[in-house]
Amino acid sequence: MNREIKMKLRQAYPRDGEGIREIVNTYASQGLMLPRSLSSIYENIRDFRVIAGGDRIMGCAALQVYWEDIAEIRSLAVIEEIQGEGWGRALVDDCLREARALKLPRVFTLTFTPPFFKKFGFSEIEKEKLPHKIWKDCIHCPHFPDCKEVALIRDL
Ligand SMILES: CC(C)(COP(=O)(O)OP(=O)(O)OC[C@H]1O[C@@H](n2cnc3c(N)ncnc32)[C@H](O)[C@@H]1OP(=O)(O)O)[C@@H](O)C(=O)NCCC(=O)NCCS
Repeated sequence: MNREIKMKLRQAYPRDGEGIREIVNTYASQGLMLPRSLSSIYENIRDFRVIAGGDRIMGCAALQVYWEDIAEIRSLAVIEEIQGEGWGRALVDDCLREARALKLPRVFTLTFTPPFFKKFGFSEIEKEKLPHKIWKDCIHCPHFPDCKEVALIRDL
């Protein structure tokens, strides 16, 4: 990793879509997260924040509002070269900051990596307690109903 490149966390722009897709779908092909289509990324680009190093997208996370009182952290990923340097934490913190600014009392996530989110005060919840999410998105997912993701929630 060329440390001459200055990295920063910023809001995502539509031009970041390809970079976001590459990170998410690389991990998705390893079974670490769910894939995202380019159209779903562009349609929801305002939900995303990214870690940008020059022109390269090195990390991303989205906060998607689901209902009046709940949002989801989705598509959280940091490229291997910069893992362990606090960028994952910075992405989660930024999602929580935005959720508070939106006066949302709760944030949830569906993940194959529960220990990471538990570090940030999330605790496990039965997926059935997230009805809007289940009916709005999950039924369209190829993994439904045998999904191995764990649901976690955090009060703000
Ligand atoms: C999970 C992921 C986002 C973490 O990013 P990162 O930049 O390496 O995380 P950070 O450096 O900010 O680590 C923050 C803390 O979480 C811990 N942590 C990192 N990855 C972890 C994991 N997989 N399980 C448990 N704890 C983890 C770190 O040790 C650190 O703890 P500390 O503050 O006590 O030292 C990154 O490893 C990744 O993109 N993995 C592949 C995709 C994925 O699994 N996404 C998960 C959501 S679906």
